[in-house]
Amino acid sequence: MPRVVAPPQITNTNPFRRMANDVRLERSITVPFPPGDTNFSVARTRGFLRDPLTLLLQAYDRYGPVFTQRVFHQNIIFVLGPEANHHLLVSNAANYSWRDGHYGDLMPLLGDGMLAIDGAFHRLSRKAMLPMFHRERIALSQQLMVEEVDRALDGWHDGLQLDLYHWTRELALRIAMRALFGIDPENARQHADAAQEFENALSFWSKDYIFQILRGPGSPWKRMRTAAKRLDAIIYAELNRRRASGDLGDDLLGLLLETRDGDDLLLTDRNIRDEVMTLLFAGHDTTTSTVAFLFYELARHPHLVDAEDFGLELALDETLRLYPPAWIGPRRSIEPAEIAGVAVPGGVPVEYSSWASHHLPDVWEDPEAFKPERFAPENREQIPKGAYVPFGGGSRTCIGMRFGQAEVNVIAAKILQRFRLDLQPGYELRVRQTPTIGPRDGLPVTVRASKAATGLGDGTSREPLAA
Ligand code: HEM
Repeated sequence: MPRVVAPPQITNTNPFRRMANDVRLERSITVPFPPGDTNFSVARTRGFLRDPLTLLLQAYDRYGPVFTQRVFHQNIIFVLGPEANHHLLVSNAANYSWRDGHYGDLMPLLGDGMLAIDGAFHRLSRKAMLPMFHRERIALSQQLMVEEVDRALDGWHDGLQLDLYHWTRELALRIAMRALFGIDPENARQHADAAQEFENALSFWSKDYIFQILRGPGSPWKRMRTAAKRLDAIIYAELNRRRASGDLGDDLLGLLLETRDGDDLLLTDRNIRDEVMTLLFAGHDTTTSTVAFLFYELARHPHLVDAEDFGLELALDETLRLYPPAWIGPRRSIEPAEIAGVAVPGGVPVEYSSWASHHLPDVWEDPEAFKPERFAPENREQIPKGAYVPFGGGSRTCIGMRFGQAEVNVIAAKILQRFRLDLQPGYELRVRQTPTIGPRDGLPVTVRASKAATGLGDGTSREPLAA
């Protein structure tokens, strides 16, 4: 009889209970927190919600790479910069739990998917899914991406005005549903229902936290739960359909359906549903926002695109430096630790921020400037280990990295083959940060037909970039 690794215990997802637990845990800490601002402050909490980048950079300037900030009801230890990132993500990663960090707030939608599990169950779930993200599979997905982008570009013409962010969002969802879960967008009803319910559920995290904790009829919570239940029904129906037909399918769902006790891992339908939701969630706004930020910067630096040696992959790397969508990585320490020479208690929230780490003035020269040449091979070698972490790192590096990079590459290359995009007059980028960073007001652009070839092909010929 194989040893079957069970999923983790159900955790309470009620925000008040989670807050009470945070407070109880903090009270039990008898050793000092790292230096910082530990008094309760409404201004600081608001500052963190509105402009966390500035708050984190100011604190780094005052206290160094490991510091404490009281946000809302609790002390959070933030760790920034190469050494601290390497500690958290690679050398001591096992000492930090995801489930007990703020990712736990995602459990009402994502359940026990990869973003909210630790230990053996996480390792085995990840192993079961990895084949979907191997090079050959990504190459297959790239063909599908090309088809979908061509279709989406169909009506584009000189002078067209559109919101690139929303255009990409719809496209990315079609690609994800088709490539990962075999949901056929041409089955219009099934696709429209799934896409709409998914967007309805996600909109919960774009609400201010104060609205997220409300319960009862008409609350964002209730709407999210209703959408999640409808999505569950779509996913379970698809699982049953496949089992009944005897054809489990050649996509991620098929792979997960085949995962049975012989592999030390018994995924129930509920676990499969959780992973489906997690991948859709983790891959959706990240990819979409990256495309929007990339074209925002290219529109401001048109000479780069028209230069003979324009390198899309360098521009993409630099975009992910300035605007890493998954900008914060929440954890909770298990045992006390020393991070970059600073003592950190066990059982407390510890978070890294790629966004802030990518803006440190002592690590990046002229950090606010968009300079793709930083990532040219000869310069790339100078970047310290742990300084650049848009996809996280270590054994929990983003599993969808190659998929996401391939998707952004294909979308951007296909657009640039035929068009240039101008920002609409008066547009000013405002960045929102929940659940990932993205352009708050979308990205309104005017499409210009371009005769200048970029020599980029359709974006499928190059290897996806390594982080
Ligand atoms: C440009 C696109 C993307 C970016 C910048 C990005 C970024 C990240 C980052 C930073 C993490 C680690 C978070 C942490 O350390 O706390 C992560 C994890 C993850 N990402 Fe992505 N992601 C992208 C696209 C995708 C796509 C397309 C998928 C799915 C198809 C995906 C699925 C996941 C999953 C499942 C995890 C959790 C992995 C684990 O815990 O083992 N991501 N991503």
